[in-house]
Amino acid sequence: MAKSNEAVAERGIFTIALSGGSTPKLLYQLLADPNKPFCEQVPWPSIHFFWADERHVPPDHSESNYRMAHEAMLSKVPVTRDNVHRVMSENPDAAEAAEDYEQTVLRIVPGKPSRFDLILLGVGADGHTASIFPGSEVLHETKRLIAAPWVEKLKRHRITMTLPLINNAASVVFLVSGAEKAEIVREMAQGPKRYPAQEIRPAEVRLMLDREAASKL
Ligand code: 6PG
Repeated sequence: MAKSNEAVAERGIFTIALSGGSTPKLLYQLLADPNKPFCEQVPWPSIHFFWADERHVPPDHSESNYRMAHEAMLSKVPVTRDNVHRVMSENPDAAEAAEDYEQTVLRIVPGKPSRFDLILLGVGADGHTASIFPGSEVLHETKRLIAAPWVEKLKRHRITMTLPLINNAASVVFLVSGAEKAEIVREMAQGPKRYPAQEIRPAEVRLMLDREAASKL
């Protein structure tokens, strides 16, 4: 909340990329809950919302990261509709959807290259983050801000922010929950660099862990 209000006071806008997966849903619901103190402290109309990654499915699909955030938070708070920038993931051409999204990021997010105020990320038990999976060609991307990798283990394309864009952010917060993540969290913190999530090194990184995910630290 402090970051968003500071940015809006200084620059008039706050740019955030939301994480997908299941872990952030509770946070989104909490922020949007009118009975909790947070909702009224967020400068919703001045925030530009993006997604760190998206599944290659339409926005009304049960696996859509946009749909999850819309139902859990964005449909319940006074955001400016034009400030909600979802991936056009209904486009059957994932590469084209990625290119379009890159143009939107370049148009809206200030900086050369674009510098998000905050990016929320999760971590998979295999060490992936956003949709940057172990062994993915995206790990070697140095120019594109958004990519559409084929993810063999899912037999699907994903649309994802790349390391150059994520690592240029002012701040990244990892949201990680559950005992099944305890081992990867331990390895990320203590082990050699082996996982995509360990390639995330912007100016500021924070890990928000629940007790189970932190149980091996
Ligand atoms: C996605 C995510 C992905 C997610 C991790 C953790 O679209 O799936 O962006 O990177 O954050 O897989 O997912 P959970 O929070 O569901 O464990």
